[in-house]
Amino acid sequence: MTKFSHEWIEKNPWLLIGLVLVVISFGGLVEIVPLFFQKSTTEPVAGLKPYSALRLAGRDIYIREGCYNCHSQMIRPFRAETERYGHYSVAGEFVYDHPFQWGSKRTGPDLARVGGRYSDEWHRTHLDNPRDVVPESNMPGYPWLASTRLDPQSIVPKMRAMRRLNVPYSDKEVQDAPAELEGKSEQDALIAYLQGLGTQIKTRN
Ligand code: HEC
Repeated sequence: MTKFSHEWIEKNPWLLIGLVLVVISFGGLVEIVPLFFQKSTTEPVAGLKPYSALRLAGRDIYIREGCYNCHSQMIRPFRAETERYGHYSVAGEFVYDHPFQWGSKRTGPDLARVGGRYSDEWHRTHLDNPRDVVPESNMPGYPWLASTRLDPQSIVPKMRAMRRLNVPYSDKEVQDAPAELEGKSEQDALIAYLQGLGTQIKTRN
């Protein structure tokens, strides 16, 4: 009987590793798999709309410039967070985000509900040189965004790719997208993106 005792397992490192892996995999499956099917994590919150063409372009610039290295977009359900940033984030707000920008590094504030908090003009000044509005800021400036035009045609394949990921863009929305980007700068797009963040279930007063 001693042969099958716990002690025997513990003295056989490879067997122990194998069994630990089996247990962890099973635990992982039980926790993760249901999330793929739960309504609260797969269905958009009421009123959630896919990003407009301009916002989608802005989102790509956010990713390209690495804003997520300093900013999260995920308000945790703790009092200290909700007092500062507003309603905590819920999964249904992110179903059209591919990939989502939750992040975890907060050198700067969380941006999940920054939409509407400042004027477009504030964002322009801030993006050109953050220290013009927040003297102690250590955020880098992004002055070239204002002088770089968007390429209107480049949005079409991006929207098609999003459609493959179940973002419900209509044919007409894809067709009309380049016109929405005509004459706009990268900064316009990024600001449009920022101004929409978290406004779908905004509960701040
Ligand atoms: C090196 C870290 C860093 C990077 C990279 C960075 N930021 Fe920031 N950001 C900060 C810090 C610190 C603050 C707080 C001081 C300030 O307002 O400038 C801030 C503030 C902000 C704010 C105001 C938030 C609020 O609630 O007051 C916005 C909006 C913002 N950043 C957007 C961006 C965008 C867009 C990018 C990418 C183009 C970016 N940041 C890149 C560090 C960073």
